[in-house]
Amino acid sequence: MAQQTFRIAVIPADGIGQEVTAAGQKVLDAVAKRSDGALSFDWTEFPWGSDYYAEHGVMMADDGLEQLRDFDAIYFGAVGWPTVPDHISLWGLRLAICQGFDQWANVRPVHFLPGVTSPLRKADTTELDWIVVRENSEGEYAGLGGRNLAARGKGGEVAVQTSLFTEVGCERIIRFAFDIARTRSRPKLSSVTKSNAQQYGMVLWDEVFKRVAADYPDVETESVLVDAMAAKFVLKPEELSVVVASNLNADILSDLGSALAGSLGLASSANYNPERRFPSMFEPVHGSAPDIAGQEISNPVGAIASAGLMLEHLALPREASRVAAAIRATTAAGVLPKDLGGSATTDDVTNAIIRFLD
Ligand code: NAI
Ligand code: MG
Repeated sequence: MAQQTFRIAVIPADGIGQEVTAAGQKVLDAVAKRSDGALSFDWTEFPWGSDYYAEHGVMMADDGLEQLRDFDAIYFGAVGWPTVPDHISLWGLRLAICQGFDQWANVRPVHFLPGVTSPLRKADTTELDWIVVRENSEGEYAGLGGRNLAARGKGGEVAVQTSLFTEVGCERIIRFAFDIARTRSRPKLSSVTKSNAQQYGMVLWDEVFKRVAADYPDVETESVLVDAMAAKFVLKPEELSVVVASNLNADILSDLGSALAGSLGLASSANYNPERRFPSMFEPVHGSAPDIAGQEISNPVGAIASAGLMLEHLALPREASRVAAAIRATTAAGVLPKDLGGSATTDDVTNAIIRFLD
């Protein structure tokens, strides 16, 4: 059988990012080992993050994007440490990659797993899973604005943070979400804005949504304001299939979704450059969790599920399903880390997932 080798850049970065990417690499290497030599992963680790910043004054090498450009994919941990202001660490590394590689579509599935207690009463009786599609290149995280202290003096500083909505940006993410909705057992797409209060950018988004929807008559649609959608996540989650929203709104909603599924530690995500001009990046939704870093109790499921999304992207759907099934088998067997009320270590969970690959 022909050997297929995938070149993956790994950026563990900070805190539990180190622990959970190690877990994900271990699982993918186990997948490769079971392929009878058909595939392998060639990992190249980059030491970027807050320690790198302490030494070099920057979060990543100046030619970092050049170094990453030719990889098949990027596997990312989490960035952020109390020694570096969060806006510097996030913009200096994660957002620099997402924006530099035009990874404009962020997909964040919300999966309820067997054996995991959700704070949501309904989760006991209903099969729940939905996908949050986040606009990942503009909106509220466009990075436009400034601060000025000039004429007003101390205590009078002003700051402007501008959201950017372009018709092209809205249309591409909305079409991307419609295409996903089409593949679901319930083909439905919910668009989220706050267009009653934000009358320019979000009204443009609503108009584009309406126009694009005409091309997808087979997909059921709804437009919901973000505050109402937050309530809907809790009260009527069974009505959700695919949810598309702007950068900030989808960021918040996806954390809510993963908390409802049981823990932030479970949530996976993919930052796609759908045109494949640049590598896409796969990472857990959670951050670096300095409060638990180094204790070997971090939940690796979000990172391992993200590695599963990477397998799908590399056109290995069978292997991706195997990882997803092994995760389900692990939680169903009650191998749960501390954040899910269990006592399994990061390694215990990882090793159980590897055992269930067989
Ligand atoms: P966080 O996601 O790191 O942690 C929030 C809470 O969830 C903490 O109590 C943490 O212990 C828990 N938690 C998160 N992931 C977990 C896991 N896998 N297993 C068990 N428990 C888990 O968010 P927080 O505390 O707001 O931010 C910490 C740092 O991470 C900050 O510097 C922030 O900027 C950064 N951050 C980075 C992100 C990224 O790289 N994509 C995303 C979110 C935050
Ligand atoms: Mg977030």
